[in-house]
Amino acid sequence: MRYPRLRLAIFIVGCALPLWWLYEAAMSLLGPDPGKILMDRLGLGALTFLLVTLSMTPLQRLTGWSGWIVVRRQLGLWCFAYIVLHILCYLFFILGLDWGQLAVELRKRPYILVGALGFLGLLALAVTSNRYSQRRLGARWKKLHKLVYVILGLGLLHFLWIVRSDLREWAIYAGIGGLLMVLRIPAVARRVPRLVGRRGRVAS
Ligand code: HEM
Repeated sequence: MRYPRLRLAIFIVGCALPLWWLYEAAMSLLGPDPGKILMDRLGLGALTFLLVTLSMTPLQRLTGWSGWIVVRRQLGLWCFAYIVLHILCYLFFILGLDWGQLAVELRKRPYILVGALGFLGLLALAVTSNRYSQRRLGARWKKLHKLVYVILGLGLLHFLWIVRSDLREWAIYAGIGGLLMVLRIPAVARRVPRLVGRRGRVAS
């Protein structure tokens, strides 16, 4: 296994963050709506992990270091884990597992459908993120994983629909997402200067 310490560090950081979030939410139990706080934090966490995952390729191009690509899959899976927890919080704390309410909720909050589409996309990427699927799907694997750009768009739209009036926080996420997309345009990517020399081959 390449870069075992780096992978371990990512795992610990990825693990420690939700624990901190859970701790903080537990501390605010006396607040009006701890379940909602937890759900919102997990949603923001998922979006953050999505952006971090998407920044691995530009960072590899910029630095020439292939370690960024090695941890990319793990970070993407963390994004998926956060979104699963985000949805579970919604089902438990907001919906109260009252499935009859779901149709009413979808009419009242259509942004949930946008989020659900994003989740389905993430699910497809998570189940095909292993080497076996990569080998089986061949060239189609790369095409399928381009879905990540659509997922980012859906996640940002879902978020925008919720915040509406105060766009400051949303604009930071959207700005970073937009920059990461621009850096992927071949003509732009070719112009990105390499800060240091090549120190390893890129895995994909
Ligand atoms: C089935 C899928 C999903 C459901 C049911 C869902 C549900 C929700 C709900 C109910 C809220 C709170 C809305 C409010 O404040 O009134 C929310 C917020 C949020 N969700 Fe989702 N969501 C889903 C998927 C996603 C996905 C795929 C992403 C991003 C990748 C995401 C990111 C966020 C973010 C960033 C927030 C805002 C947090 C904040 O206001 O601080 N969600 N979601």
